[in-house]
Amino acid sequence: MDARLARIAPAPAGNSFAEALLMGFARTPKEIACKYFYDETGSRLFDRICDLPEYYQTRTERALLQRYAPEIAALMGPDVEIVEFGAGSLRKVRPLLDRLKNPRAYTPVDISGDHLADMVRTLAADYAGLVVRPLVADFTLPMTIPTLLGRPRRAGFFTGSTIGNFKPDAAVALLRRMRSMLDGGGLLVGVDLVKDPGRLHAAYNDTAGITAAFNKNLLVRANRELGADFDPDAFAHYAPYNASARRIEMYLVSLRRQSVTVGDQRFEFAQGEPVHTEDSYKYTTESFREMAARAGFSPRAVWTDPERLLSIHWLES
Ligand code: TRP
Repeated sequence: MDARLARIAPAPAGNSFAEALLMGFARTPKEIACKYFYDETGSRLFDRICDLPEYYQTRTERALLQRYAPEIAALMGPDVEIVEFGAGSLRKVRPLLDRLKNPRAYTPVDISGDHLADMVRTLAADYAGLVVRPLVADFTLPMTIPTLLGRPRRAGFFTGSTIGNFKPDAAVALLRRMRSMLDGGGLLVGVDLVKDPGRLHAAYNDTAGITAAFNKNLLVRANRELGADFDPDAFAHYAPYNASARRIEMYLVSLRRQSVTVGDQRFEFAQGEPVHTEDSYKYTTESFREMAARAGFSPRAVWTDPERLLSIHWLES
């Protein structure tokens, strides 16, 4: 396996971390887009979040994928190319790869190139003979995935409840774009469900403080990459559940009045001022199926665990 990474669609203007941060800080409330969490350190911290006792999502999704892989593989059919959006550590797709009949290729797409390179090496070693073609790309931007010889049918794989990190309108737009990237193929999506708010709150406020470190890593990253001078200890991780909007909202809250320099610009933070860093929307199985239909998909199967913590949907084009 050649683990060299193809970089497609270089970031257009307004999409570098520097530009995004300066644009986000010009807003009220200030904000930083959540895709910038995933530098090398952030990706590693996120892998630790996935193993936290409070973070039920990864475990539950893994169990579901393991349990229903034969059914999912049958729905996807033989000879498919799996396209994984936001592939992360490439661990989740394995039960499916194990069950698919004659998979033609596996195309993991991820924004974090270094992390992807490491992970691809591990996966390729375990699946000798599988064509693996990692793409370093931001799947939220328009892109075309180069067609493989023989034009195998595509099946998308989009797990981790990442769809919940987009506002509903943006989520519909993203699903639409994925539909066109998949060229008429179906999409498997993992979606976190509405549930006891206490349980949701705990998942984003772990006692070990890993989620807080992950959130604050945005500031550490800005210091390193943009020459900013944030004091990460002068900000608090704050992640309440907004029940009316059915979403976790994540913030970094300035603990004191302070000014911070980013490049040649200075930003003032009032005491208690929030910087919005992420939303994580929760759905019912029905509300997500409606959303998928709005994006032009035909929702087919849906699987959930006995506690109904999380759902996995198979959508056809
Ligand atoms: N898609 C994940 C979610 O919304 C991402 C995530 C989990 C996350 N925990 C986080 C993002 C903590 C930022 C901080 O659950």
